[in-house]
Amino acid sequence: MSLVEITDLEKSYKVGEMDVPVLKGIDLDIDEGEFVALMGPSGCGKSTLMNILGCLDRPSKGRVLLNRQDLSLLSDHELARIRRDEIGFVFQTFNLIGRMSNLKNVELPMTLQETARDVRRDRAKELLESVGLGHRLDYSPSNLSGESDRGWRSLELSPTIHRSSSPMSPPETSIRRAQKRSSIS
Ligand SMILES: Nc1ncnc2c1ncn2[C@@H]1O[C@H](COP(=O)(O)OP(=O)(O)O)[C@@H](O)[C@H]1O
Ligand SMILES: [Mg+2]
Repeated sequence: MSLVEITDLEKSYKVGEMDVPVLKGIDLDIDEGEFVALMGPSGCGKSTLMNILGCLDRPSKGRVLLNRQDLSLLSDHELARIRRDEIGFVFQTFNLIGRMSNLKNVELPMTLQETARDVRRDRAKELLESVGLGHRLDYSPSNLSGESDRGWRSLELSPTIHRSSSPMSPPETSIRRAQKRSSIS
């Protein structure tokens, strides 16, 4: 079974009185360990699809299975739990909290998971050291250069899915196109 299974996904936005269709019947399977880049012109619906996959928005129609869970059957609270525990978000803007140290920033999701203080501190240190930031634990994120803070916030929980809004370069990169029964508008 795939990690992500999308079947006949549709999404429309309500603009005034009108329903504006954006995703019109998307089928997409993503296996565990696969690295996927979603490509298309501006406005074609990439963010719309990523928001649904990231449990930030809901489909208008169709089925989305994430790690065997049917997202349409889950409550907002359960979707929040998936966002917290199973998805690593890498935003174009880093959304780091300036008044917290680098260490505390990396600890934050583990704090929300109520991980014991010592455990999350050790894990956060280990992760910052692994990306060469072991000497910057107590610094504010505003002192980091752009390339060094990219993505490290999403490292802390080894989540099932890394959702990125801009390309990264993992060692093994395979790109495949979304299998579309019809197409993204
Ligand atoms: N919240 C919204 N309400 C109404 N229309 C939206 C909303 N979000 C996106 N759209 C429209 O949906 C289409 C796809 O947008 P988006 O998914 O952001 O595209 P992409 O990420 O590929 O640039 C665009 O025409 C955009 O204007
Ligand atoms: Mg976008």
